Amino acid sequence: MTVPPEAGGAGYRLVEDADLRGRNTFGVPARARLLVEVDTLQAIPALLGSDRLREASLMPLGSGSNLLFAADPDAVLLSIRADAMAIVAERDPRHVVFRAEAGAGWHACVLRSLALGLGGLENLALVPGTVGASPIQNIGAYGVELDSRVHEVEAWDRDTRRMVRLSREACGFGYRDSRFKREPDRWLVTAVEFALSREPVLVLDYAGLRDELAAAPGSTRSAADVADAVCRIRRRKLPDPAVIGNAGSFFKNPVVPGAQARQLLATHPGMPVFGAADGRSKLSAAWLIDACGWKGHRDGDAGVSATHALVLVNHGGAQGRDLLALARRIAASVQDRFGVALQPEPRIVGACW
Ligand code: EPU
Repeated sequence: MTVPPEAGGAGYRLVEDADLRGRNTFGVPARARLLVEVDTLQAIPALLGSDRLREASLMPLGSGSNLLFAADPDAVLLSIRADAMAIVAERDPRHVVFRAEAGAGWHACVLRSLALGLGGLENLALVPGTVGASPIQNIGAYGVELDSRVHEVEAWDRDTRRMVRLSREACGFGYRDSRFKREPDRWLVTAVEFALSREPVLVLDYAGLRDELAAAPGSTRSAADVADAVCRIRRRKLPDPAVIGNAGSFFKNPVVPGAQARQLLATHPGMPVFGAADGRSKLSAAWLIDACGWKGHRDGDAGVSATHALVLVNHGGAQGRDLLALARRIAASVQDRFGVALQPEPRIVGACW
């Protein structure tokens, strides 16, 4: 039931007993006691200061592309829909600050920046989700992690009840990690500002990207060409959530001590190993899962994508708990065979990993 706007106040709407099935890209059933849809960022101080929400446990909800509802959420769900995007500062003739509000779709943000002649986000084309979710898990793809493009993040701080701006350093970014993810009760990301360039240095080193670019006839190798190449690769490899429910990579690529990686390589010479910080090594979760025979596997309607072993899929009628059970079996088999612990990448609601 949607409560009329007068009852919610200007700039937001309250939806009681909200159906979440269409609001998570796995397409699993779940319900929230209360969902608040915020249309203008100016509404946030009064809304979050209101009696009903001041002390409530809150869960920001973007497009639901990086979460699994294993049960109904306890928290009040908050969905920011404000989606304005614009250049807000010219740092010099080449470098600008581009701002996008949290409710903007991520891919729409990439396309808008490219249409304005700005490079920097092209490798992140077609990553699902919203701008507001992008810094939380520090999205990354094809050799670029979001944090390298962030100028500042604007967020509502529930501790001090103020709108604040956090520098890139203050965001505490890591691989699929950030301060916002580690302190979920404190922050509500409201906008992200990106440092972009009119003459970007293109990042083409990720496996397959240069070849994909070269294969396109007449390619001038602009930032927009890179985005097109990334879209083509992603469309080939990653299942489209509009066609089959999924949340992208279900596991993070595990980072292990260098010695463990060398030992594994000795017995599995084909295993991809990438250098990570502090002499550690990053392994490919997709390869480990594939090697355990899971690709294309199906337990009822919960399955593993046939095109990418890292992606769990809902063939239609799976519940969140079915997908979680399958994920646990996959992780247990990788642990048994390789001695490597997998960690989920999406947020799991209503269960602990
Ligand atoms: N591989 C397999 N089997 C497969 C798929 C891949 O063995 O079914 C092996 C291949 O050897 C391949 C390697 O895994 O070379 C890496 O595969 P891929 O290039 O697809 O990258 P990934 O490590 O599986 C990561 C991100 C993706 C991102 C791609 C491209 C994580 C957890 N995932 O996947 O991000 O799109 O790189 O940059 O870091 C996401 O986070 O939701 C996501 C899709």
